[in-house]
Amino acid sequence: MRLASLVLEQFRSYLSLEFTFGEGDLHVLQGPNAAGKTNLLEAISILSSGRSFLSAEEDDLIAWGHDYYRLRASLLSDAAEEQTIEIVSQRLPRRARVGFVNDVRLPVGRLTGVLPAVTFLPQDLSLFSGSPARRRDLLNDLLVQVSPAFAASLAAYQKLLKQRNALLRRIREGTGRAQDLAVWEEGLAREGAVITLGHLELLQVLQCTLEEELRALGESWRSVRLVYDRHGGATTQEGIERELLHDLLHFRERDLAIGSTTAGPHRHDWRIEADDRSLASFASRGQQRTAVLALLFLQVSYMEVRRGEKPIILLDDVFSELDQAHQECLMASLEGHQVLLTTTHAVPGIGSATVWEVKEGTLKEQGVGRGA
Ligand SMILES: Nc1ncnc2c1ncn2[C@@H]1O[C@H](COP(=O)(O)OP(=O)(O)O)[C@@H](O)[C@H]1O
Ligand SMILES: [Mg+2]
Repeated sequence: MRLASLVLEQFRSYLSLEFTFGEGDLHVLQGPNAAGKTNLLEAISILSSGRSFLSAEEDDLIAWGHDYYRLRASLLSDAAEEQTIEIVSQRLPRRARVGFVNDVRLPVGRLTGVLPAVTFLPQDLSLFSGSPARRRDLLNDLLVQVSPAFAASLAAYQKLLKQRNALLRRIREGTGRAQDLAVWEEGLAREGAVITLGHLELLQVLQCTLEEELRALGESWRSVRLVYDRHGGATTQEGIERELLHDLLHFRERDLAIGSTTAGPHRHDWRIEADDRSLASFASRGQQRTAVLALLFLQVSYMEVRRGEKPIILLDDVFSELDQAHQECLMASLEGHQVLLTTTHAVPGIGSATVWEVKEGTLKEQGVGRGA
């Protein structure tokens, strides 16, 4: 998949931006801090997955002082088919978000998967030592793009979670009834089982080639495994659903005390282990980055296999953080994909790239050169 052109209207720092990517797969978006580079990739991530990769609220995405934003992209599939995708999100007169594919109106949830993308953010460099939220997002972002059923379950789960949490707080304040929890809990167990099973299966697939991928990057760890961290051990959908329902009931008292739900896939985590030891406990910072890079390649090939379409790659501010060998490996592995790479400084030696200067809500092509 390739982005052919992009329109941003009243999105973040962009009041009105319209541009065409032109020839070449590698695009370097260069500009000082706060120029709007991440905003641009974020816009693409919203078109791709329906949500901001920074988990931003809709209100924060609309340009200050305005009431809506609009994003539109024209795409060219690997088989050279043209498509357009568009999202309009408004705050007033009432909150609403609508999507369009080829100008046919669809619920925004149905847009995910049209524009497959894999993202690499600065915080991913410390993926394994950082917060579990980003690790969960990584699995979810991948799965929503390949499975509409997973995407539907995730959306339903998040809604149910909000409803149960709101009820927990009302019960604590004496205005809600405990017997009303059951209906949310049944839903959470049902959707949570789909999500948990999705995570388990995805990790299993990624694990198949992880060791090989790491070896190609120069790490010869043995018995490399991806371990999913959860309460319970069931591996069938019915079994997981039963366990989740049991946990929701079991931890009700605790949940009531803190006013939020503590059991379920929104609290699960995962890690890499080699020889039964967690990567975060033995690997150097550099080695952890290597593992993250290996994981990026795995995500790209997973998406390509499942979708039959090459994802576009969004690299935010990470290139200069990698050493020369890893930079070269990254560029070689991503060849044949459209890559959008943001940077504050010129990056030498990354082959022929189209360099765009990002400045105050505008983009200016600086020409095709050897990486700046
Ligand atoms: N909703 C918004 N409306 C207008 N400007 C915004 C909005 N959200 C963020 N910004 C501005 O966008 C800029 C940050 O852009 P960003 O893409 O993160 O920069 P960078 O080039 O460093 O990645 C900041 O100057 C911020 O004030
Ligand atoms: Mg940035």
